[in-house]
Amino acid sequence: MCGIVGYIGEEQAAPILLDGLSKLEYRGYDSAGVAVYNGEEIQMVKSMGRLKVLNELTHDGAMLPGTVGIGHTRWATHGVPSDANAHPHLNKTGSIVVVHNGIIENYVKLKQQLTRRGYEFRSETDTEVVAHLLDYYYRGNPLEAITRLMHRLEGSYAFGIMFQDHPDEIYAVRKDSPLIVGHADTGSLIASDVPAVLKYTRSVYFIENGEIVRLTREGMQFYNIDEEEISKEPVTIAWDVNAAEKGGYEHFMLKEMYEQPKVVRDTFSPRLKNGDIVIEELGMTDQEIRDIGKLYIVACGSAYHTGMTCKYVFEGLARIPVEVDLASEFRYRNPILDEKTLVIIVSQSGETADSLAALREVKKRGIRVLGIVNVVGSSIAREADNVMYTWAGPEIAVATTKAYSTQLIAQYLLAMKFAKVRGEISQETLEVMLEDLERLPEQMEMLLSNKERIQRFANRYLAAKDVFFIGRGIDYAISMESSLKLKEISYIHSEAYAAGELKHGTISLIEDGTLVAAVLTQEDLFKKTMSNMVEVKTRGACVLAVTVVGNTEVEKNADYVIYIPKTNQYFTNSLAIIPLQLFAYYVSIGKGCDVDKPRNLAKSVTVE
Ligand code: G6P
Repeated sequence: MCGIVGYIGEEQAAPILLDGLSKLEYRGYDSAGVAVYNGEEIQMVKSMGRLKVLNELTHDGAMLPGTVGIGHTRWATHGVPSDANAHPHLNKTGSIVVVHNGIIENYVKLKQQLTRRGYEFRSETDTEVVAHLLDYYYRGNPLEAITRLMHRLEGSYAFGIMFQDHPDEIYAVRKDSPLIVGHADTGSLIASDVPAVLKYTRSVYFIENGEIVRLTREGMQFYNIDEEEISKEPVTIAWDVNAAEKGGYEHFMLKEMYEQPKVVRDTFSPRLKNGDIVIEELGMTDQEIRDIGKLYIVACGSAYHTGMTCKYVFEGLARIPVEVDLASEFRYRNPILDEKTLVIIVSQSGETADSLAALREVKKRGIRVLGIVNVVGSSIAREADNVMYTWAGPEIAVATTKAYSTQLIAQYLLAMKFAKVRGEISQETLEVMLEDLERLPEQMEMLLSNKERIQRFANRYLAAKDVFFIGRGIDYAISMESSLKLKEISYIHSEAYAAGELKHGTISLIEDGTLVAAVLTQEDLFKKTMSNMVEVKTRGACVLAVTVVGNTEVEKNADYVIYIPKTNQYFTNSLAIIPLQLFAYYVSIGKGCDVDKPRNLAKSVTVE
């Protein structure tokens, strides 16, 4: 939610800021702005709408001279998307400028106090109080003003700040919102996320809560809230520079779907050794694994759906009871945890506010937390007791595809490992399962190569009003993710239903021609879901069936069938999701939607 960038160096700042913002647009895109010191004063341009409006207004940055600046792309929380509410925000004389990611929770009180002191507000944002409060505290020493500000603020923030009378410096500070800084050959950068700086440097510093950075052309210094200088170690990011570019694909989502075979392989292969699964980063002894009494999988969005699937995998294979929780519910429901509980937090970004808060809640109670995270060095990765990385690389499209697929793989590996250590599966069974696992990338490729067929089918449903997805067990979990994919990028109302629940209400919504996608990958549930398929078909539904090759019986009752290759019953999600992702993608582009940046959504949800 919201992306911030900053640059100070030898080059013209504005084009670098705009380029950085283009990499962060997934964090919010209802308005954008930049402020640059032009040698005399701070010059600011901001506008409602996508970044391209700002690019046009500034001629891709060319009309903003100066080598130091900050920028912002917004996902509105306080105040509608508008020019006035867009960041940056200025103090009254225009000599202090701020960009912000996060929410200042006590801004109403601060605004009242500042208004009483004669400050006038030009926007409805919570951020503007920061510019005025800095103005109030500023006596020529930026660090002092910033630390005084920090003592007054409640909520979450990452700021980029410039002071006109310190034109050779940018300040950055963070609490509970992500922030990284890096130094490249031509200058220093700040950003909300790694893709924005990858082109310039792979060596970055992750800023911790309460830390302040002073960036200059030559380098940077770090301070704590007591204004004492501290030292920090950089982290080297292994991501390929081109990974955050479209690379010839029309959309990031399509590119990322096509990367799935590779990133799935990247996630399992380093962990397979001589017919065994080795997850060193798990940090658990075999005895500790045997002692696990209960698992909680806690996450948001699609990551939560991977937990829904893997509940069946962990319970089925390792016979460990699993609860899957939405992080936003878990954090407030006082869950029953004991020393035999292992909590797994699944998150692509590692910054989702609710998932992070859930993690902290668990840690406060002294319970072990394992993070399954994609972004190296992110908050969840740093704060979890142990972290198992998914090697999906940077994911830019708001709707996740490749990160989702790698989250499944990480959990399959854990489930098989736990099952083996607890004596629930034999070495022989494990080896057979690993063979199936290793075949997944090739099978995914085969499904992806079928995209034209799916596109033709999708084009028939561009005008659909409602679409239903049904399935049982893992197929229900697949339905949930497929339904989310479709609704979030195509704006078609869609629901996932456990097929057995249909008769308790949803079936009344089926009309002539309503599309129902039935997922039937689980052999033992095949006949049951088939009956539900027949029930909707009889009531006029058009049925799309997704099933395993050989199940030709479905053809009698389906209007359209997609076959997935045979695999282990626990891995079917990894294959069945591919055509359903493609379906959502083609409906979205067929309708002319902005598939990579769907309305109202942001990829990294850093506010609760
Ligand atoms: C947003 C994204 C989803 C993602 C969810 C959780 O809603 O659009 O794709 O699944 O956040 O994000 P996380 O980074 O924690 O996996």
